[in-house]
Amino acid sequence: MPDKPGSEPVRPVEIDIEQDLALDFVRVVEEAAIASARTMGQGEREKSDQVAVQAMRQAFEHVNIDGTIVIGEGERDKAPMLYIGEQVGAKPPEGLSHPKVDIAVDPLEGTNLCATGASNSIVVLAASEPGGLLHAPDCYMEKLIAGPACRGALDIDAPVEENLKMIASCLERDVTDLTIVVLDRPRHEKLIASIRKAGARIRLIQDGDLSAGIAAAVRGAGVDAVMGSGGAPEGVITAAALRCLHAEMLARLVVNSPDLEERMKSMGIRDTKRIYTARDLAPGKKIIFAACGVTRGALLNGVRFFGDGCRTHSVVMTRKTNKVRFVDAVHLSRPPGPRGVRLY
Ligand code: FBP
Repeated sequence: MPDKPGSEPVRPVEIDIEQDLALDFVRVVEEAAIASARTMGQGEREKSDQVAVQAMRQAFEHVNIDGTIVIGEGERDKAPMLYIGEQVGAKPPEGLSHPKVDIAVDPLEGTNLCATGASNSIVVLAASEPGGLLHAPDCYMEKLIAGPACRGALDIDAPVEENLKMIASCLERDVTDLTIVVLDRPRHEKLIASIRKAGARIRLIQDGDLSAGIAAAVRGAGVDAVMGSGGAPEGVITAAALRCLHAEMLARLVVNSPDLEERMKSMGIRDTKRIYTARDLAPGKKIIFAACGVTRGALLNGVRFFGDGCRTHSVVMTRKTNKVRFVDAVHLSRPPGPRGVRLY
């Protein structure tokens, strides 16, 4: 905001968003995870999502940022909170301004997973300096994701068998040793048949290609690659995490109707056939990615409740400073009794 004539200039608070805000973003994902985990298995997906959105929105009020939601719950007229363009963050003290930050959120990735108590539902967000995250339209995105060993080796237009051979060669193993994650959807019938024909193992998932994408970038998480199409907003948030993990991602928007083609053009996306890398999707110099487990997953434990409070498991990664931190937190709702704190 320009200074009023005659008034004291507004001074920006000098901070490094990666170093100084990482833990604040962990608190945001923790709050949303605790709220949605309370609804686990209740079969009410909308409620699970709603409580996560509310808790996340509220938690942002304590973060010292001048934040703009660039990927969120949808357009302003469709979402009451965390809509695209919404400003979030704490009010700065008089005469100061907080750093400008773009934020992409998925307050509950895997709403069905949470509503049915299945594994791998998480709360996620990514943040960067303004312009550091692609404003992806709400459509599908073709994705090919693998770990750092495969960087520069894959081709989204090559036959599935060739990419599988390449992934196997980069990982120094046979195609038959690979585990590929694919969303279990009719649109993936041909893809699944090709992977099966090539002899690789498949893990079909009901939901949650974002957490699968992150697992593919982490050695020992039991996933070698993710193939197929899922949400484009989830694709951008995955890319933010993959940039922190130096992994490989190739992607392309799925534009399969004239209406969608028009919408892309109106959003300024001229080349709708463009192949994106993780860097194109999340070009930020400084990136923070934070996730907290809602239900138990491959990388993160779910929220566990006990008499005195609950325990959460989160990960926060930063690109420039190259840190991956796991945060195992106990949240006490009241002072512990005479026998001390219960941790589970
Ligand atoms: P939600 O948590 O928003 O329901 O998304 C879950 C998810 O499975 C994503 O992980 C994935 O990218 C997308 O939905 C796939 O969409 P669709 O269910 O239409 O195939």
